[in-house]
Amino acid sequence: MQRRRWHEFDSSSDLEKAAASAIVISAQRAIAERGAFHIVLAGGTTPRNVYRALRTARTDWSAWHIYFGDERCLPPADPQRNSAMASSAWLDQVAIPGRQIHPIPAQLGPEKAAHGYAQEVARMNGGSDFDLVLLGLGEDGHTASLFPGQAWERATTLPPVIAVLDAPKPPPQRVSLSPARLSKARQVIFLVNGTGKHEALRNWRNGAPVPASRITPDGGVDIFFNPSPNS
Ligand code: 6PG
Repeated sequence: MQRRRWHEFDSSSDLEKAAASAIVISAQRAIAERGAFHIVLAGGTTPRNVYRALRTARTDWSAWHIYFGDERCLPPADPQRNSAMASSAWLDQVAIPGRQIHPIPAQLGPEKAAHGYAQEVARMNGGSDFDLVLLGLGEDGHTASLFPGQAWERATTLPPVIAVLDAPKPPPQRVSLSPARLSKARQVIFLVNGTGKHEALRNWRNGAPVPASRITPDGGVDIFFNPSPNS
């Protein structure tokens, strides 16, 4: 069962400020307790301003380790890549050691990239819990690249990283961490902005089995949402 804590904000900027502050607090706690902070980034457009706000964060960047929850099978420099979005908004501006930034090699194609990234995450993080996982929400209730009505939903077992061949949101070929691997986290925060997400939020809140409901970390999930039309 997914435990959910809902946090409503009046505007995008309030949500983005709160999210950036929650990320830095999570980093400080992890660095103080374990000397390192392992964070999984969300893609799409909603987190961009949150990442921008992190440029000026007061933190020990040398202790940050960056992973991605999903990626689009496009060339590395393509601006539609989640890794390119995060780099231009934030990662290129701060002193996180390059060897600690782990983009999904999605340019290799879904299967090869999924296999390679599963090994990299296992090597880098030894399968232990991420400190923080950031996720978005699509209008159909998808999160990362886990779309409704697709094979992963019916699978009894899944690898930690899955290949997506026919995503309804372009591009169709993608790579995504599995629900179980995304749930192996000390903290999970969903960032949800905009009127387009109203129905998905309502369905989710009413217990519909949307893909976002399949993320079930022990500590429950926090949903930062801003339903206001001006966002
Ligand atoms: C992607 C994302 C996807 C995204 C949602 C919300 O690669 O497309 O990982 O899961 O988070 O579709 O997208 P927006 O933030 O752009 O609304």
